[in-house]
Amino acid sequence: MEPPKILGARPVEPDDFEWLSTGLSGVAFFSKLGREQLAEVLPYMLHIRYAAGSVICAEGEPGDALYLIHSGSVSVTKSGRAQPLARLEEGDFFGEMALLFGEPRSATCTALENTEVFCLSAIDFARVVERTPEMTRALAELARARRNRGTE
Ligand code: CMP
Repeated sequence: MEPPKILGARPVEPDDFEWLSTGLSGVAFFSKLGREQLAEVLPYMLHIRYAAGSVICAEGEPGDALYLIHSGSVSVTKSGRAQPLARLEEGDFFGEMALLFGEPRSATCTALENTEVFCLSAIDFARVVERTPEMTRALAELARARRNRGTE
């Protein structure tokens, strides 16, 4: 498989905070975090730009990070299925299932166009999970619903 084409990567900058703190209020993962907790997570996130067509995470691989789409779109596909499971856009996140369930990636996530994401590594995610059980429960509920949709 072609390696993902990363066009650039940088830490989260102060300008991102506004988008992240307002944009994230609708995101299950982050909506449960208070401002202080959010401020703790953000420095650990990376902003990555992927070229159109890049596989950001591949079905069957170990989960090493969680992603939040800043701009662009991502197709979620699974082997043996003709149709994509989902198309994810700005504000959507992906890659949470492998981290939460300790399983390999359940699907392949491919950038449909040049796509920017905020990425949180599994190690930093584990730190957040430890501190925010309520948020983790909400995220796990969402992940279970996604999983059920994927196996229908
Ligand atoms: P993960 O299994 O870590 O890696 C692939 C990701 O695709 C998965 O986490 C979810 O974030 C996402 N995904 C899997 N199935 C679905 C679905 N049915 N709807 C939306 N997203 C999904």
